[in-house]
Amino acid sequence: AVAVGRRMRSRGKWKRVVRVLREVEEGCESSVGRLRQVVDAMAVEMHAGLASEGGSKLKMLLTYVHNLPNGTEKGTYYALHLGGTNFRVLRVHLHGQQSSLLEHEVERQPIPQHLMTSTSEDLFDFIASSLKEFIEKEGDGSELSLDRRELGFTFSFPVKQMSVSSGILIKWTKGFSIVDMEGIDVPGCLQEALTRKGLDMKVAALVNDTVGTLALGHYHDSDTVASVVVGTGTNACYLERVDAIIKCQGLLTTSGYMVVNMEWGNFWSSHLPRTSYDIDLDSESPNPNDQGFEKMISGMYLGDIVRRVILRMLLESDIIGPISSKLSMPFILRTPMMSAMHEDDSPDLREVARILKDILEIPEVPLKLRKVVVKVCDVVTRRAARLAAAGIVGILKKIGRDGSGGITGGRRSDMKMKRTVVAVEGGLCSSYTLFREYLHEALNEILGEDIAKHVILKVTEDGSGIGAALLAASHSSYNLDTVQ
Ligand code: GLC
Repeated sequence: AVAVGRRMRSRGKWKRVVRVLREVEEGCESSVGRLRQVVDAMAVEMHAGLASEGGSKLKMLLTYVHNLPNGTEKGTYYALHLGGTNFRVLRVHLHGQQSSLLEHEVERQPIPQHLMTSTSEDLFDFIASSLKEFIEKEGDGSELSLDRRELGFTFSFPVKQMSVSSGILIKWTKGFSIVDMEGIDVPGCLQEALTRKGLDMKVAALVNDTVGTLALGHYHDSDTVASVVVGTGTNACYLERVDAIIKCQGLLTTSGYMVVNMEWGNFWSSHLPRTSYDIDLDSESPNPNDQGFEKMISGMYLGDIVRRVILRMLLESDIIGPISSKLSMPFILRTPMMSAMHEDDSPDLREVARILKDILEIPEVPLKLRKVVVKVCDVVTRRAARLAAAGIVGILKKIGRDGSGGITGGRRSDMKMKRTVVAVEGGLCSSYTLFREYLHEALNEILGEDIAKHVILKVTEDGSGIGAALLAASHSSYNLDTVQ
C-alpha cells in the first residue's frame, strides 16, 4: 500500500509538471494567423511613429544617415561599440575604389557590471582608456597624422539625434542605468573623456548598432534595405523615403531617403502572445512597461523566462522536493546556457543535467524532467524567433516588399518582387542555430515561399562597429571627395 501511495503521489506531481508545460505552450502560441496580426500591427505602428513625435510606442528615430556606404570610402578609421554585453574597439582599413574590401582589427571585452549603473564619467573613462590601450598596443598602423583621426561611435540605445554626429540619450535599456546621462549629449561625454585621456580624436558619426549593421550590409550588397539586431537587446532600422517621415516635413535630402531607427524593442500590441511569466519579468525589471517586444525576444531575457517557468514547475509539482535559492535569482540563467541546454544532443541530456546542477543547483534531475526543460527552452526560443520574423515582415510590408503591394496599395499583378536583403546581427542570430532556423521557418510561413525566396537574411559579425567606421568615413570632413 505504501508503494502504491508513493506511485500515485509521483503521478500526481508529474501531472502538475505537464500542466505547467501545457499552459506555457498555449500562452506562447504563435500560429501564422497570429503572426500576421503582429505584422499588421507593426506596420500600423510604424506609420503612427513616423506621423508624429510620441505617436506610437515605436519611436521611429531619425538618424540623419541619407547615404549608405558604397565602397568608395578610403582611409583608416576607428570605431567603438557600446551597448550589449561586450564593449568593442575596432580599427577599419578601407581601400576605396568600389572594392568593398576592408580589413579590420577588433578587441572585445565584457563591460564591468558596476559601470552599467555608475556615473557617465566612469563609463566613458573606461571606454576612452580601452581605446587608448588599443591604439598604443597595436600601433597606429596608418599614415594618418594625429589630427586626422576620426571615430565612429556605435551607441546601442535610443538616441534623439540632431545630426549624424550628435544626439542625446533618451532612455537607457538592457539593464544600463546611469541617471545623470539621460537627456545628455552622448558624443560630448565621449569627447570629454577622450580629452581627459589625451586622445585627439573626433566623433564623426554616432550610430545605433542597427544602423552600423545596415551600413556594412549595404556596403557589401546594395540590395540591403533593413537590418535587425537580436542580441542582448533587439531592434531594427531601415531605409525610409523622406516624404513618408511626416513628423519632419520639409527635411530635404539629396537621396530622398533616411535611415530610421525603429527602436522596435519597445513595440507593443495586444496580439503578442504574452504569458504570466512575461508579466512578472516586466514588473520586476528596472524598466517596467517599456521594451515589451524586447523582453519576449532578446538574449538578456530569454533565459530568465525559462528560469521562471522551471521555478513554477518545481514549486507547483514538488517533484524534486525543496529547491535551491539560486533558482529564485533573476538573470542567473543566461541565454547562452539556455541555448546549450536546448541544443544538447546527447542521449541522456548530460549538458542539461550539468547546467541545472551547476547554475541552478538542482541536482539529479531525472531524464524525463530534463526533457521537459528542453521543451521549455524550445517553446520560449521559438516564440522569440517567430515574433522577430513577424517584425521583419512588418518592415517589408511598410516599404512594399512583402509581395502584397504595400500598405499604400498597388495591384498585386503589377508587382515584381525585388531581391531584398536584411542584414542581421547579434548573438541569437549568430550563435543560436535553432533560433535562426525558427526565424527562417516563420518568414517562409508568413510570406509564403514564392515571396520569401526573394528575401535574404545575411548574418554579419561586428557589422555594427565596422559600419560605424564606414559611416565615419563617409561623413568625415577629410573624405569629402568620396561622398556622393
Ligand atoms: C535595445 C536598444 C537599441 C538597440 C538594441 C539592440 O533595444 O534600445 O537601441 O539597438 O537594444 O542592441
